[in-house]
Amino acid sequence: MAKTRAPAVNGKAYPVTHHNYDVVVVGAGGAGLRATLGAAEAGLKTACVTKVFPTRSHTVAAQGGVAASLGNMGPDNWRWHMYDTVKGSDWLGDQDSIEYLCRHAPDAVYELEHYGVPFSRTEDGKIYQRPFGGMTTEFGEGPPAQRTCAAADRTGHAMLHTLYGQSLRHSAEFFIEYFAIDLMMDSDGACRGVVALNLEDGSVHAFKAKRTILATGGYGRAYFSCTSAHTCTGDGNAMVLRAGLPLQDMEFVQFHPTGIYGAGVLITEGARGEGGYLTNSQGERFMERYAPHAKDLASRDVVSRSMTVEIREGRGVGPEGDHIHLHLDHLDPKILAERLPGITESAKIFAGVDLRRQPIPVIPTVHYNMGGIPTNYHGEVLTKKDGNPDHIVPGLMAIGEAACVSVHGANRLGSNSLIDLVVFGRAAGLRCAEMLDAKERQPELPGDATDLALSRLDRFRYAKGETPTAALRLRMQKTMQANCAVFRDGPVMQEGINKINTIWRDSDDIKVTDRSLIWNSDLVETLEFDNLIAQAAVTVTGAENRKESRGAHAREDFSSRDDANWMKHTLAFADYDTKTVRLDDRPVHTYTLTNEMHYIEPKARVY
Ligand code: SIN
Repeated sequence: MAKTRAPAVNGKAYPVTHHNYDVVVVGAGGAGLRATLGAAEAGLKTACVTKVFPTRSHTVAAQGGVAASLGNMGPDNWRWHMYDTVKGSDWLGDQDSIEYLCRHAPDAVYELEHYGVPFSRTEDGKIYQRPFGGMTTEFGEGPPAQRTCAAADRTGHAMLHTLYGQSLRHSAEFFIEYFAIDLMMDSDGACRGVVALNLEDGSVHAFKAKRTILATGGYGRAYFSCTSAHTCTGDGNAMVLRAGLPLQDMEFVQFHPTGIYGAGVLITEGARGEGGYLTNSQGERFMERYAPHAKDLASRDVVSRSMTVEIREGRGVGPEGDHIHLHLDHLDPKILAERLPGITESAKIFAGVDLRRQPIPVIPTVHYNMGGIPTNYHGEVLTKKDGNPDHIVPGLMAIGEAACVSVHGANRLGSNSLIDLVVFGRAAGLRCAEMLDAKERQPELPGDATDLALSRLDRFRYAKGETPTAALRLRMQKTMQANCAVFRDGPVMQEGINKINTIWRDSDDIKVTDRSLIWNSDLVETLEFDNLIAQAAVTVTGAENRKESRGAHAREDFSSRDDANWMKHTLAFADYDTKTVRLDDRPVHTYTLTNEMHYIEPKARVY
């Protein structure tokens, strides 16, 4: 039963409505919904708190598909998927987690099928699978694998609708358009729940929970040009930083090779999976030079770097020679209509081209964050404590793009994101079912449990500075775009650190003009900017610190991978008093989950 009380913050009252749940999931994308469904199905009292309507979560934009070794289109094996994922991660992924992902992927996809996801079909009625970058057979020695299960080019959309319906079926409760402000942590370092603002009526809610699961997605909006929705502000990541906990491997930011030039909108890798190819201003299929074997289906970091080199060396297309062409005009229009209807529409709307006749102008665009909240393969959040690098933070879990399990390491393979969402969303639900007793009462919250959240809300609501949030946000986004890009260099990143830390400090002068609490987008954008700027700081600081090139982190001044010194995860903590970042590290898990698969030894990564 909800009850209210009214603590004073700066002399102003915020009545708080209190709720009591076994599990509270923050975020309703693919991972959040899968965890919500799993916990509710296990008979746990489960709430999902989400700032957007569930089917508007950013998973809706995932196009190409979900990777699982079903073997519907040719031989496949979860061990080959594991090999590809370890290689794709450039040996920064934890191999126990990668084994968990790949061996559970087929079951997770069949489960989606049975829940009702309308997958595209082969002639004989099986789930249709297309090739994606870096997915191979025979431990990299065989032909490309057709491993990516697709619902045309609207796979994420189909998954979200199905998972939302299934969650409702199991009586999960949804708090929609509630913005999570901060975690409630107790003096033992355990998470006791989360405080959120109901955007519609301005009421404040404290959700006490035995487990709080952060499924808040990535923070692509720290950059100027990205495929991410405007809502992708990494709210959970920032809550973790404010709780004094670390984020992991934040320097690894994925650029998707084919964002529409000028608009940033995604053109799925499935376009190249169906036979699309890239050309430069000389009409040359240049990927043949950079990745003679995989060509246009090399992994994303490799393709993005190759495109950037072509542009830099004067072979870009367009009046300013600053982008690349993606061709689909040679493909059968029937295939385009059946398998790529979404991007046919996007190319028309956002690039003004008819892809049946014209190439699409594309450019590498920020797409995914490999880093995030460190967790084990159950989704339990980890920190380093008393020398233990795998200390579990009681009560707190994280999944999906917000988490760093770490299965993607330094570079994620396309279609491994959707499978990460459902495998680890499912794992988190299973872990809650295993660890929690629905009948057990929770201890009372500490008296000051909501103070951090309420003082944060109040501080920004009444911020009287001179600098509008939009001005600070633009400076941050342009700095990240220029100083922490596809190719990186020490002095450029040091300049980026100085600029980002200055913007962070300048946010003391932030100006919010709307003091209301009802649909106050000025306030919400300010809270989101506050979340983004700390993540920008840990990203560029971690990037400058890592003196090697690995996966998506390509340094011009340290151009090789350095396993002896850098095969380790970065941990980054934010100091909010000095507005600076402190770095630490923890070892990569160089062991597998079972003896059904051996540890995959590092080697040169060529495609
Ligand atoms: C795509 O379809 O290319 C995006 C899906 C993903 O990032 O895995």
